[in-house]
Amino acid sequence: MSTTTEEATKVAAKLIPIYIMGKQYEVPETLTIMKAMEYAGYKYIRGCGCRGGVCGACSTVYRKPGDYKIYTGLACQTVVEPEMYLTQLPFYPAMRATYNFETLQGNPEEVYVLYPELFRCVACNACTKVCPMDVEVMDYIAAVKQGDLLRAAEISFDCIQCGLCASRCMGELPQYHIGQLARRLAGAFLTPRAEHLKTMVANIETGRYTEGLQQLKAMNLETLKKTYQAREMEPAVAGEDWTPQDKQYL
Ligand code: FES
Repeated sequence: MSTTTEEATKVAAKLIPIYIMGKQYEVPETLTIMKAMEYAGYKYIRGCGCRGGVCGACSTVYRKPGDYKIYTGLACQTVVEPEMYLTQLPFYPAMRATYNFETLQGNPEEVYVLYPELFRCVACNACTKVCPMDVEVMDYIAAVKQGDLLRAAEISFDCIQCGLCASRCMGELPQYHIGQLARRLAGAFLTPRAEHLKTMVANIETGRYTEGLQQLKAMNLETLKKTYQAREMEPAVAGEDWTPQDKQYL
């Protein structure tokens, strides 16, 4: 065995004890909680989606030895620590209001009617402290209470709907559902319309791109690849006003 392979084996073999739902397992110390659970023999059927910290399916709570605190994280992003005691919350059963979005008009009062528990918030900030995305949860709840749905939408933009905020809330608010409604209302009623999008949709409907699309569809794979590679690309540091040289499809 070469030295490099020996070292790799040694590193791979370095195991630490963790407790998954009360049972001890020895797992490589470099793994995320998700990979450690799979290493230990668990199979994810639910509670796992993107594996990249985006979908919010893998909320996990854990304790560390000698520490009274409950820690939270995403199983796909958090690396295991020796003796951590963990369990996953693949779904948090928070109350979710039912509404017909078509009948809403973007008023804060609509949120108050659908989520009256909003006013049970005691501003303890536990929700913000557990958020794995560092969203200022308490602040967006405060913004909704103040009737500022746009601000609530902005603050909650990075929410991945994992539900950890609700799991720690002493007022039993479903913060993430409230934030989602605020974003929906803000997007549908409060933000300026994207006029250029309207123009592009109209262009598509009038068949402006049909011929170009047909040409692409008729190409063989090689030509298609070459055409793709030769395309004019937007520079990484392009300003807002950047436009391509070839304006035929604008
Ligand atoms: S699996 Fe999607 S956030 Fe972890």
